[in-house]
Amino acid sequence: MPIQSEIRKWKKKRNAVILAHNYQRPEVQDIADELGDSLALAIKATQTDADVIVFCGVDFMAESAKVVNPDKTILHPNLSAKCPMAAMLDLEGLKELKEENLDAYVIGYVNTSAESKTIMDICCTSSNAVKIVKDVKSNKIIFVPDSNLGLYVKRFVKDKEIILWPGYCPTHVEIRKEDLLELKGKHPDAEIIVHPECTPDVIDLADFVLSTEGMIRHLGETHAKKIIVGTEKNMIYRMKKEVPSKNYIEVPAAICPNMREISLQDILACLQNMGPKIELSAEVIEKARIPLERMIEAGRGD
Ligand code: 13P
Ligand code: SF4
Repeated sequence: MPIQSEIRKWKKKRNAVILAHNYQRPEVQDIADELGDSLALAIKATQTDADVIVFCGVDFMAESAKVVNPDKTILHPNLSAKCPMAAMLDLEGLKELKEENLDAYVIGYVNTSAESKTIMDICCTSSNAVKIVKDVKSNKIIFVPDSNLGLYVKRFVKDKEIILWPGYCPTHVEIRKEDLLELKGKHPDAEIIVHPECTPDVIDLADFVLSTEGMIRHLGETHAKKIIVGTEKNMIYRMKKEVPSKNYIEVPAAICPNMREISLQDILACLQNMGPKIELSAEVIEKARIPLERMIEAGRGD
């Protein structure tokens, strides 16, 4: 039996649903029940009737699904799929920063561990970071861990003090201004869309700065026929599938090896073995749930 049929058989047996991030390998995207960005997948995780969620994405995404769904079994098919940016923030460091700035409100990018979310006031994703920073009442904000997303937010929020953590996405910082200028030189009629985890000089060159789901929605709105895509290259697989009429130009260096760890074999094995499972303490779930639910309530911003 082909592996896809085996996965479907086991999915039915376990009453499971497969959620996958837009950066997953093409074959994983094809077997998924739902595809999306971090925010869309966190929302989907709250809406499913399935008993088991197979989460195809990096560690923090699977943890967030557990936090908002403590009674469900969350399977993470390959535990080595970890986000290095999330690992750049530690609970102790964040505690210290909070103690030095007792009057600050803590806004944490969802790309963080569940443990560090226990001391955040609200989470955000690339889709709603600007909206959330604008909307919170406090004039002093600690924004962790992505300094590039924080710098992007600062462009729109001039009236608040925003303290940044020195984290970054190792994949998006590899998308260089020079790469985009070269691609634009070859394709002068192309529109440039980039993710807000890119560096400020890259953002300056972009026509649109969007979350991964925002990029998909943008395809239905733009008249551009050619698009230079400044984010993980696997994103283009979904773009081509959903809007095949456009010409997508990738940035060769834009690869997140962590997102690519999960294979069809891993998905089948986790359904058969009912593991690896995401396990979090009741205390972490109770505390991390607050900033995540506030983020879900805030909704999309792009
Ligand atoms: P999105 O929420 O835009 O999908 O981004 C998640 C991510 O990890 C980007 O690197
Ligand atoms: Fe983390 Fe960057 Fe990979 Fe997204 S692309 S999962 S932020 S390392």
